[in-house]
Amino acid sequence: MKILFHVFSILTLMTWLASSSNAQEHRHNLMPTPAEVRFQSEELAGKLTIRESFSTAVRGYNDRRLEAGIDRAMRRLEGRIGMELGRGLATDAETATLVIECREAGQGVPSLNEDESYSLEVSNGRATLKAATVIGALRGMETLLQLVESGRDGYYIPFVKIEDKPRFRWRGLLFDSSRHFQPLEVIKRNLDGMAAVKLNVFHWHLTDDQGFRIESKKYPKLTGLGSDGLFYTQDQAREIIAYAAERGIRVVPEFDLPGHATSWAVGYPELASAPGPYRIERQPGIFDPTLDPTREEVYQFLDAFFGEMAALFPDEYMHIGGDENEGRQWVRNPQIQAFMKERGIKNNHSLQAYFTTRLARILRNHKKKVMGWEEIMADDLSRDVVIHSWRGPESLAEAVKKGFSGVLSAGYYIDLSYPASNHYRVDPVAADKNLSPQEEARILGGEATMWGEYVGPETIDSRIWPRAAAIAERFWSPRSVDDVDDMYRRLAVVSVRLEEIGLTHEKNYRSLLRRMAGVKEIGPLETLVSVVEPVKQYNRGKQRSTTMLSPLTGFVDAARPDSEAARHFAALVAGFLADAPRFQTGREEMERTLVKWRDARPAIEAITGRSGLRDAEHLAAELFDLAQAALEALACLTESKTPDGPWAKVKTAILQQAAKPKPSAVEFAILPSVRQLVIAAIELPQLRGQSPLEWRKRVKTLAEGAQTQ
Ligand code: ACM
Repeated sequence: MKILFHVFSILTLMTWLASSSNAQEHRHNLMPTPAEVRFQSEELAGKLTIRESFSTAVRGYNDRRLEAGIDRAMRRLEGRIGMELGRGLATDAETATLVIECREAGQGVPSLNEDESYSLEVSNGRATLKAATVIGALRGMETLLQLVESGRDGYYIPFVKIEDKPRFRWRGLLFDSSRHFQPLEVIKRNLDGMAAVKLNVFHWHLTDDQGFRIESKKYPKLTGLGSDGLFYTQDQAREIIAYAAERGIRVVPEFDLPGHATSWAVGYPELASAPGPYRIERQPGIFDPTLDPTREEVYQFLDAFFGEMAALFPDEYMHIGGDENEGRQWVRNPQIQAFMKERGIKNNHSLQAYFTTRLARILRNHKKKVMGWEEIMADDLSRDVVIHSWRGPESLAEAVKKGFSGVLSAGYYIDLSYPASNHYRVDPVAADKNLSPQEEARILGGEATMWGEYVGPETIDSRIWPRAAAIAERFWSPRSVDDVDDMYRRLAVVSVRLEEIGLTHEKNYRSLLRRMAGVKEIGPLETLVSVVEPVKQYNRGKQRSTTMLSPLTGFVDAARPDSEAARHFAALVAGFLADAPRFQTGREEMERTLVKWRDARPAIEAITGRSGLRDAEHLAAELFDLAQAALEALACLTESKTPDGPWAKVKTAILQQAAKPKPSAVEFAILPSVRQLVIAAIELPQLRGQSPLEWRKRVKTLAEGAQTQ
């Protein structure tokens, strides 16, 4: 018996060892990728089939938070697979399908030092999830849900061994409720999304020039006059904090000071550095109203206010903002200038440092640690302050070299509408900064920032997801997980799964298009919107004036960052051009795609007539020209034809026109690929008679050139 057992163990071991060399071959859909994951090799692959009898038992520590987490996971699973699974926990851990072994509760209010590690083994008819804390178990359950695959025989979890823990402790999403108020259910579904990809800090930007969003009982005019009635009561904030804590997410509130402070001054103009009166700001941008750092009454106000907030928000950190204070009110105020002279304060930066030091002292008295944007960094600031780097990685390196801890957001500004790949390539630990191990250890992690100038409840999800999942992987997974193509493959799966928790990023654009069109049949509009993206950076406001009161229901709102259609087309074009001088690879699919794009125009014109569709009409006309140009280029290349005399000039003009800023504030994401085809058609005939190698070299140069034009 004993010998038999050993033989069995050795066989099992060999199976897993065989698997480790093949680990990369099983294309999993996990995001973030675990620290260590080993599947069995394909030939040996076993699977745990999910049946109605699927049951879960908890061994060791258990509590209400864990049970609620298990229940949420099971309800999501049964919704996905359409099979009713039992309620409640199994009493017999020996026979349960999933056994969760948890050592202890962990922290009720999650902290920076929470142990989030877990291990998961699926083998021989059961799954075992082990974790030190409940939060670790919750992280492991998200992995388990992501492991579920389907095949001819139904749903199953492949046999696997996972040892997982995060690379960084601080993995955040900044959520701006000031520029546009977001209702509680929007926040809750985004917290669920965060938990699904193991993000653990909800950075709640609650005050800014455009609105003061948190109730103060001591200073009711803050929201009374500074919020249009759109704010969170303290009970609602507690509800969000509890909802987040249930999912192992910290809530770090931000009260942006001394700049970005218009909404404070609407109700309490005496706080500001000029007399006022003040009104809630409706424009995006940087504004003058700034707290007066020279008056004791201001600190008394802040002491009382932060005392109230310290009691409300349990996290040990509070974010005090500190960014983009241009000090214009300070320069114009003789009393402030006299104060500076008297104390030898040489410039605005030093005056802000004086303010920050005093505010940090107030917060310390209320038992809170301070976090602030990089502008607050100053030599005499206490080193327990966390510096939040946003203008570039240099400030993060400087901060940790000076002994501060730091969090990186530069490179993770998802509101700028760049593709996920751009963010994915940014590492919190920049390779070129020569940090010592101690300095590197002071980099706590990063945060994606969802600034709210141009997002409402209907569109915010599509600006966060799925791209934030790729950033979550950067923060959680080993640095070596960096294959962009594989990230996009998994991101497409994760994006659909994120819908099961109520996120609207994949679906709301259709509802916006229907509203615009006033009809149900919006197929051609979907085609059009799939090839454009919102303009990058903060150019939207430059191309069409948009205030905080403007409706967010236009074509640009239906457009989404990181066009999948454009990415797919770019890959087709790359394959096609690499097939020079034959030009056959992917040709038929490209032709079909281009014909669909071209022919969207008459269908769109058939449903125009309402004002919202004027953008679409113009864009459809441009898309017609682009698609036609690409089809002609394709024909030239495949038939080895030289384009007619004026063709190059005419098509180049079309490309230039399509690249121009548009009032619709979108851009053609397919433009670089179309440009590649057109330039190839213009230039490649000169290569006739040359070797295929010469062709390919030229194609490569062309492709690189076309991307950067
Ligand atoms: C910032 O983006 N002003 C922090």
